[in-house]
Amino acid sequence: MRSSRHTRCSSLAFNMSREAFALQLLFLVLVHGAPADQAARVLKLSRSRMEMHYDQDSAEHASQRVDHQLYMSSQDGHKEADKVSELPGQPGRAAFDQYAGYVTVNATSGKALFYYFAEAVQDPSTKPLVLWLNGGPGCSSLGDGAMLEIGPFFVNSDNKTLSINRYAWNNVANMLFLESPAGVGFSYSNTTSDYNNTGDRSTSADSYTFLINWLKRFPEYKGRDFFITGESYGGHYIPQLANAILSNNNFANATIINLKGVAIGNAYLDDSTNTKATIDYYWTHALISKETHLAVQQNCSFNGTYMAQCRNALAAAETEKGVIDPYNIYAPLCWNASNPQQLHGSATNIDPCSRYYIESYLNRPEVQRALHANTTGLKQPWSDCSNIITPENWKDAPMSMLPSIQGLISSGVSTWLYSGDIDAVCPVTSTLYSLDILELPINSSWRPWYSDDKEVGGYVVGYKGLVFATVREAGHMVPTYQPQRALTLFSSFLQRKLPPE
Ligand SMILES: *[C@@H]1O[C@H](CO)[C@@H](O)[C@H](O)[C@H]1NC(C)=O
Ligand SMILES: *[C@@H]1O[C@H](CO)[C@@H](O)[C@H](O)[C@H]1NC(C)=O
Ligand SMILES: *[C@@H]1O[C@H](CO)[C@@H](O)[C@H](O)[C@H]1NC(C)=O
Ligand SMILES: *[C@@H]1O[C@H](CO)[C@@H](O)[C@H](O)[C@H]1NC(C)=O
Ligand SMILES: *[C@@H]1O[C@H](CO)[C@@H](O)[C@H](O)[C@H]1NC(C)=O
Ligand SMILES: *[C@@H]1O[C@H](CO)[C@@H](O)[C@H](O)[C@H]1NC(C)=O
Ligand SMILES: *[C@@H]1O[C@H](CO)[C@@H](O)[C@H](O)[C@H]1NC(C)=O
Ligand SMILES: *[C@@H]1O[C@H](CO)[C@@H](O)[C@H](O)[C@H]1NC(C)=O
Ligand SMILES: *[C@@H]1O[C@H](CO)[C@@H](O)[C@H](O)[C@H]1NC(C)=O
Ligand SMILES: *[C@@H]1O[C@H](CO)[C@@H](O)[C@H](O)[C@H]1NC(C)=O
Repeated sequence: MRSSRHTRCSSLAFNMSREAFALQLLFLVLVHGAPADQAARVLKLSRSRMEMHYDQDSAEHASQRVDHQLYMSSQDGHKEADKVSELPGQPGRAAFDQYAGYVTVNATSGKALFYYFAEAVQDPSTKPLVLWLNGGPGCSSLGDGAMLEIGPFFVNSDNKTLSINRYAWNNVANMLFLESPAGVGFSYSNTTSDYNNTGDRSTSADSYTFLINWLKRFPEYKGRDFFITGESYGGHYIPQLANAILSNNNFANATIINLKGVAIGNAYLDDSTNTKATIDYYWTHALISKETHLAVQQNCSFNGTYMAQCRNALAAAETEKGVIDPYNIYAPLCWNASNPQQLHGSATNIDPCSRYYIESYLNRPEVQRALHANTTGLKQPWSDCSNIITPENWKDAPMSMLPSIQGLISSGVSTWLYSGDIDAVCPVTSTLYSLDILELPINSSWRPWYSDDKEVGGYVVGYKGLVFATVREAGHMVPTYQPQRALTLFSSFLQRKLPPE
C-alpha cells in the first residue's frame, strides 16, 4: 500500500517538476527514473546545453525585432464571440467580464494561442492590463496561474464546481493569462513539426504577435499601462518578451505597447547560479548533510559542465533530501486525489491535490465549450505541463538572462524579482546570487514589509532600477501559498512603490 501511494505521489512530483528546466532533469530524474535512464538523461541534458551555441549577448537574443514578419489579421467580431457567459460550476454571477479563445499567430502553419482574460472587478477602464506567464518550459498559465494561483476561481475537490479566490489579482488589474507556446494546454499548431522547433526565440516572437493581435481584438486596451508578471521559467519568457516589445515599439508603424514593469517570482535566470544555489539552499535548510554539501562544493565547478564526480555528489544530495515537495519544502504531498479529507496538516493551508481537480475540470467537454477551447479536436488531453513541449525538445535558451534583465533596467522598465522563501527549485538563494552578479547599487536598504494581517510579509530591498522582495512562508507558486501577501506585493508593484512598512 505504502509503496503504491508513493509511486502515485512521485509521478505527481515528477509532473510538477516541469516548472523548472535544467534542474528537473538533473535532479528529479535522478530520484525517480531508473538508474540507466538517469545517467543518460543527465548526460543528454548537459551535453545538449553545452552544444547549444548560445548568443554571448542574450539581451540581443531576446530583443530581436519580429515586426517585419508580424502576422496580423482581422479581429472583427472575435471579442464578442470570446465572451464567456459563465463557467460550469461557477458560484453565482461573476462581478466582472471574462473572455477566452484563440488568437492565430501564424496562418500558414495554423498556429493559435489560447488565452483567458478576467477583467478587473471594478472600473476595468481605469485599471492596468497585466499579462501572466507560467514557466516550464511547457506549463500552462491557465491551469497554474489562473486556477491555482491568482485567477478569480479555484476548482473544488469534486472536479466540477468552482470557488471564489478572495485574493484574485483581478481585484486590482485586468488579468490576461496566455497558454504559451503552441503545444501547451489548449494552444496548438496544425503543423505538428512546429512542436519540435520551439524555443525561447519562437516563444517570444509568437507571444508578441499574440499581443498585437489581441490588442486589435480589444482596442480599448491599446496604450493602457501594461505589466508582465509570472514565475519560474517565466524568468526567460518575461525579460525576452519585454525586450521584444521595447525594440518593436521603435518601429514607426508599430502598435505601441505601454510597458511599465515586469515582476518575476522565483525566477529561473541563470543555469549555473541556480544549480549552485539549490544545493546551498538544501544545506541551509537542513535537508542534506554537511559532508554532502562539501562534496558538491569541491566536485562541481558550476560552469555548465557536470563531470561524473559532480553528478555523483548531486545525486547523493538528492537521496539525502528524500522525496519531499521541492516547490514548498514544508508542504504535504498529494496521497489520494479521490480522498481530499485525508490530507495531513500543513503549515500553509493548501490542498496539494489541487492540480488533479484542475486537470479533471479543464478536460470536461462542457468546460471546454464554455471557454471556446479545443475547437479543432486536439489529439492529446489538456495537461498542466505539456507532453509535446518539453525541456528535451526545447530548441534554444540563453545560459543566463542577466544581460536581458540589465537591458530592462537601463530602459527604465520597473523590474521586480520576488521569491517565496520555502521553494527549493528556484530558491531565494538563486535570486540573491544573481543580484550579486548584477552588482546594482542599493537605493533603499533591506527592511521587513507588512501585509494587511500585520505580520511580516517578507523583506524588501530597493536597488537602483530593481526591487527585490521575499515572501515569507511561500513556495514556488507564491500566491498559492500566501495569497494575501502576494496581492499586497502585486498592488505595490502596480503603484510602483515599495510594499508597506
Ligand atoms: C509561419 O509558418 C510558416 C510555415 O511553417 C513558416 O515558413 C513561417 O516562417 C512562419 N512565419 C513566422 C512569422 O514565423
Ligand atoms: C487548424 O486546422 C483546423 C482544421 O482544418 C481549422 O479548423 C483551424 O482553423 C486551423 N487553425 C488555424 C489557426 O489555422
Ligand atoms: C519530434 O521529435 C521527436 C524526437 O526526435 C520525434 O520522435 C517526433 O516524431 C517528432 N515529432 C514531429 C511532429 O516531428
Ligand atoms: C510596418 O511596416 C513594415 C514595412 O512597411 C511592414 O512590413 C510591417 O508589416 C508593418 N508592421 C505593422 C505592425 O503594421
Ligand atoms: C568547467 O570547469 C571544469 C573543471 O574546472 C573544466 O574542466 C571545464 O573546462 C570548464 N568548462 C567550461 C565550459 O568552462
Ligand atoms: C568529492 O570531493 C570529496 C572531497 O574532496 C572527495 O572525497 C570525494 O571523493 C569527491 N567525489 C565525490 C563523488 O564526492
Ligand atoms: C477528481 O479527479 C481526480 C483526477 O482525475 C480523481 O482522482 C478523483 O477521483 C476525482 N474526484 C472526484 C470526486 O471525482
Ligand atoms: C483513495 O480514496 C478512495 C476514496 O476513499 C478509495 O476508494 C481508494 O481506495 C483510495 N486509494 C488509495 C490508493 O488509497
Ligand atoms: C480535445 O477534444 C478531444 C475530443 O474532441 C479530446 O479527445 C481531447 O482530449 C481534447 N484535448 C484537449 C487539449 O482538450
Ligand atoms: C530610490 O528610492 C526612492 C525612495 O524610496 C525612490 O523614490 C526612487 O524612485 C528610487 N530610485 C530608483 C532608481 O529606484
